[in-house]
Amino acid sequence: MKKTQINISIEEYQYLEELTDIDKELVNRAKEATKSAYAPYSKFNVGAAVLLDNGEIITGTNQENSAYPSGLCAERVAIFYANSKYPNQAVSTIVVCAFYRGQFTPLPTPPCGSCRQVLLETETRFKKPIRVILYGSEKILIIPKSEDLLPLCFTGDNLD
Ligand code: THU
Repeated sequence: MKKTQINISIEEYQYLEELTDIDKELVNRAKEATKSAYAPYSKFNVGAAVLLDNGEIITGTNQENSAYPSGLCAERVAIFYANSKYPNQAVSTIVVCAFYRGQFTPLPTPPCGSCRQVLLETETRFKKPIRVILYGSEKILIIPKSEDLLPLCFTGDNLD
């Protein structure tokens, strides 16, 4: 038997001002996007902002449905739209934040498992790490590559 440790690298910040200008802009775009979320059931308004290699910023919000599983998270709405509109542009960064009960959540909003799988696919597709910025009003986390959010992941390599 052999034991293995998996280490992941995460940066933690307390204030938005500590981020670079482009990261701050992305956070602000994600925050702005929460206003157009469609979340009548959970009332948890999520915004995502995606930065592409050509400098375009695409935003997305969660889209809920009375048949709950038919809805989609903000991250996948943003990534799928970005990849549909710009199929040759790698995604370099994604920001996620949520507005709930009258405020931006103090804690960062982590992507669900399905969104992590989609981030991984996008990272693999463009052979470029995606930086994931999880915004909370009292704590901001930056994960330099989305692959780290899904250890022991299933990729296209498993189908070879
Ligand atoms: N949600 C997202 O859009 N992204 C996340 O990272 C977490 C959860 C949405 C799904 C659902 O519309 C609502 O938040 C509550 O789970």
